[in-house]
This record gives sequence, C-alpha cells and structure tokens, in this order.
Amino acid sequence: MGYKTLCFGFSCILFAYCVYSPLPENIEEPWRVRLADTLIKMTSLLATLFENIGLMKYEGLFSIIAKMHFTKPVSDENITVIDTNFSDIPVRLYLPRRKSERQRPAVIFIHGGAFVSGSCKVSAYDDLNRWTANKLNAVVVGIDYRLAPQYPFPAALEDCIFVIKFFLQDKVLAEYGVDATRICIMGDSSGGTLAATVVQLLQNDPEYKDRIKAQALIYPGLQLIDTLLPSHREYKHGPILSREMLIKLVCLYVSEDKALLQAALRNEHMPEGSRHLFKFVNWSDFLPEKFKKNHVYTEPILGKLNGSYPALVDSRMSPSLASDSQLQSLPLTYIVTCEHDLIRDDGLMYVTRLRNVGVQVTHDHIEKGIHGAMSFTRAPVFLQLGLRMRDRYISWLEENL
Ligand SMILES: *[C@@H]1O[C@H](CO)[C@@H](O)[C@H](O)[C@H]1NC(C)=O
Ligand SMILES: *[C@@H]1O[C@H](CO)[C@@H](O)[C@H](O)[C@H]1NC(C)=O
Ligand SMILES: *[C@@H]1O[C@H](CO)[C@@H](O)[C@H](O)[C@H]1NC(C)=O
Ligand SMILES: *[C@@H]1O[C@H](CO)[C@@H](O)[C@H](O)[C@H]1NC(C)=O
Repeated sequence: MGYKTLCFGFSCILFAYCVYSPLPENIEEPWRVRLADTLIKMTSLLATLFENIGLMKYEGLFSIIAKMHFTKPVSDENITVIDTNFSDIPVRLYLPRRKSERQRPAVIFIHGGAFVSGSCKVSAYDDLNRWTANKLNAVVVGIDYRLAPQYPFPAALEDCIFVIKFFLQDKVLAEYGVDATRICIMGDSSGGTLAATVVQLLQNDPEYKDRIKAQALIYPGLQLIDTLLPSHREYKHGPILSREMLIKLVCLYVSEDKALLQAALRNEHMPEGSRHLFKFVNWSDFLPEKFKKNHVYTEPILGKLNGSYPALVDSRMSPSLASDSQLQSLPLTYIVTCEHDLIRDDGLMYVTRLRNVGVQVTHDHIEKGIHGAMSFTRAPVFLQLGLRMRDRYISWLEENL
C-alpha cells in the first residue's frame, strides 16, 4: 500500500470522525473544536495501534507530536528569550527589554501535558509567555521539568520546587530585576496540579511562607482519587480530553503497572483505609448545585488493587487532599474552569474549598469553554475563545500582581 493511499485513508477517517463526533450544543466555533478533538482522538487511536504492534509506547506518540511544536529561544524587539538551567533543571526565561522604573513582577509558568509530554518550549506556550512578559513587563520563567514515565512522581514536582527555590534567592531576583513581593505561579491542566501543589508546599514551609503573591490555575487537574465525578461522566468521550486517554496518561506518573490503569478506569484503584480522603473530593458536598444535575454520589470501592502506590494517597500528587488548615493560608488565587471539560469538577470543588476557608479566589467559569483552549491559538487549530481566555487571565494579573 502506497504512502498516498495511506494518507488518503487517514484523511477519510479524519473527515468522518469530524463529521460524526458529537459536541455539546452551546460550544463556540464548533468546527474548529471538532477538528481539535478529532486530531487528538486520532492521535490516541494511532498511539494505541502503535503500542499494540510494539512500535512504541502509548505516550510516545504524544511526546513526538509535542516535540514537533517546540520552538527555539528567539528574542524579539521587546523580549529577550534565553534557555538556561536553574539548579540543573532547564528553564526558559522571558526578559522584557523595556527600561523599567520599578522592579518587575514575575510569573513562573508550569506547562500541562498530563505529566508525560509537553514543554514550556511548545509554540502555544512560547506565545503565551512572550505575551505575558510583554503585557505585564514581567519576567516569565518556564520550567522544563522531567516527564513520566521515565521519571515518575515526584520528579516533576521536585524539579519545579528546585527551580522556584533557586529563583526566589535574593541575588537571583536582583539579577533579573524582580520585585520579590510580586511573584505568581501559574500552571495549566497537569501544570495546574503542579502549581497548586508547589504553592501549598511553599506556603506551609516557614522559610517560604508568603513569598508567593498569587497562583493562577488554568483548568487544573487536582486529584486522581475519584475518577467518576459528574464531569468525568458527562465528558467521558471529550471533547479534547477523554476519560480513558487522560487516565492512561496520568497513571504513568504513578506507575506503568497496567493493573493500576485498569483499576483507575473502574474507579477502584484506591487502597483499603483511604475512605477518609474522599471527604476532600466529595462532590456531593463541594460541587455547586447546578453541576450536580441528576448524578448520584457513589461510595468508592477500595482495596481492589494489588500493590502499593503511596502516590495515590499523597497530597503532592492530588493537591485536593490538603486539609482545610493547609489550604487556609494560600495566596490570592485565580482559577479557570471550563464547562465542557472532563476535569472541570476538580477546579470547581477547589474553588468551594478555598472559599470555605477564606482564601480570596477569582473564579472564571467559561460556559462555552473546552479543556486546553488557551493552547489552541496556532494552526492547525486557532480558537478565538483561547485568546479571550488568555486576555482575561492577563487582565487578572495586571490587576492583582
Ligand atoms: C512589542 O511591543 C509592542 C507594544 O506592546 C507591540 O505593538 C509589538 O507588536 C511587540 N512586538 C512583538 C514582536 O511582539
Ligand atoms: C542543563 O541541565 C541539563 C539536565 O540536567 C543538562 O543536560 C544540560 O547539560 C544543562 N545545560 C547547561 C547549559 O548547563
Ligand atoms: C459524601 O457526602 C455525602 C453527603 O454529604 C455523605 O452522605 C457521604 O457519606 C460522603 N462520603 C464520603 C466518602 O465522604
Ligand atoms: C492480590 O494478591 C493476592 C496475593 O498475591 C492474591 O491472592 C489475590 O488474588 C490478588 N488479588 C487481585 C485482585 O489480583
């Protein structure tokens, strides 16, 4: 079979998928969302195929595609862009060139990619960070933390912590002209998991308490203990994130053991004796009424999985597992949730929990939003929605950082 035939075959499947993939009704720019959704589903399908024929692991294809979008550190008239290391961990710095009377704020950026793929060098993130640096006259630090499954939990988190502690040294802040009282930590999707965790850890460490002014969590994932929240049920097949794909990828951060994956897909992966943790993610308590719809809360089934995975009960893996007393000292918080997002309820419940303990939260719920929208700002998928969300995030930073 020739290359052309193969391409034609794939184009036909792509087209059919696009036409037939069902979308929620009130979605904006439906054809573009369909295209994005189809491309991701095709990737997942191909990844499964490649894994089954032994060509590469499931996550391999996702990394390859992300790598195709890597950019070089290109400076422009406004921003100097440098790839360097902080504490031996690769970072990309965006340094405004404009002279500044006062010291600059800083945004520390933690990218998404389900812990297994992506980089702050991906073009959409490069655009976002450049834009942020330019708009806010801020120093932006993108962290290229190590990825799973080669480097499982807590490697990614440790890298972020090392970079941030390195950056927070007086001499480093001075070198980049950063105002130590105006630092924000931002992350999207799994980067939001890492951002939320890092901020909890720093805030509960006497040496770093109150060093971070703000956190911005963009459609964050915040827990892996209950995989059957209402949003997991309603958006099981996407758009963008499907439940199976997400669980397959995120479990790799814990372990490559297929038994874990199978158990997590059934929501029976948590160990005996972990029932007390479910009070932190009990959606019947924390989800606003309008999102509960007709869903019925089901108690977790525990102890079905053989093997010990301490990460599953660790609040550094699932920051939603932090207690109220650990949450109450958190800094000013910006959280974006999207209506049509598999992991929407993680963010919604975190908003409730933070507000319950008096943390100041700005919550932007995007009614027509989809997961990852802020990354769809380049060909082949360009969403106006993504730019609007970016602008709302930037104006929050302008007002609050
Ligand atoms: C530099 O900043 C100015 C003012 O914000 C903007 O108009 C211009 O497009 C920026 N240049 C680049 C390359 O982003
Ligand atoms: C940065 O760190 C990486 C990984 O630790 C290493 O491979 C690389 O050589 C370092 N680069 C520099 C410029 O030190
Ligand atoms: C979850 O909340 C409901 C309603 O408040 C309660 O009946 C149930 O026992 C809770 N379950 C867990 C595991 O905390
Ligand atoms: C777990 O391991 C024990 C002992 O190795 C075995 O008896 C049991 O059947 C296993 N359970 C499952 C669900 O695999």
